[in-house]
Amino acid sequence: MIHNPKIVIALDYANPQDAINFVEKLDPKLCRLKVGKELFTAAGPQLIEKLISKDFSVFLDLKFHDIPTTVSKACEAASRLGVWMLNVHASGGAAMMEAAREGVERSGQNPLLIAVTVLTSMNQKMLNEVGVAGSVADQVLSLAQLTKKSGLNGVVCSAQEASVLRYALGKEFCLVTPGIRPLDASLDDQSRVVTPKKALELGASYLVIGRPITQSATPLETLIKINQEIM
Ligand code: C5P
Repeated sequence: MIHNPKIVIALDYANPQDAINFVEKLDPKLCRLKVGKELFTAAGPQLIEKLISKDFSVFLDLKFHDIPTTVSKACEAASRLGVWMLNVHASGGAAMMEAAREGVERSGQNPLLIAVTVLTSMNQKMLNEVGVAGSVADQVLSLAQLTKKSGLNGVVCSAQEASVLRYALGKEFCLVTPGIRPLDASLDDQSRVVTPKKALELGASYLVIGRPITQSATPLETLIKINQEIM
């Protein structure tokens, strides 16, 4: 039994039945689950409630980004579902993030509220095109600092960014890292990947892992193996 599972499996499925069929193979003591925009849009809150009723901790990855009142109410509604973690875009600004925090507090629940800094699909040129003059690394750091100042619990970041952020933001700040590949796994469409163990050494708090587990012929065995590697 693992006290605080660090692996968050990305449930990147188009329909709820496929997601449920896969989840039946897992053990909530060994992992948490991430539900993103595609599955949530198709399956709705009922799926989240179903996963929670099976004792899974759920990260609702909807990356809210809107005016503060709207984000506040969206975060309140998401928190009421009983999710373990939810997120917003840090580029929505301090007022939006503070409103998000207040929305979570109104729910009476206590999920982790984190932010996305710069999407890892963005490169330097794209960042400049949307009007940010500085480097990607500087923008990630400054948005992570703003996230902490706004009272949020952490950020989503690449493992490459984790050590700088861990040093700058302290040991309590939650760093959630995708782009994780066990040594024997396919890269799929990821380019800069690190192993689960390395990501934790670099300062990650939780590891988002999708296809290496969802596409495995034996998902539970793969999950157990990765957990052993990071013990
Ligand atoms: O299958 P894979 O392990 O690549 O899935 C990673 C998950 O993390 C996907 O849900 C993907 O959208 C998400 N993600 C990512 N890179 C980011 C942010 C999120 O891969 N920078």
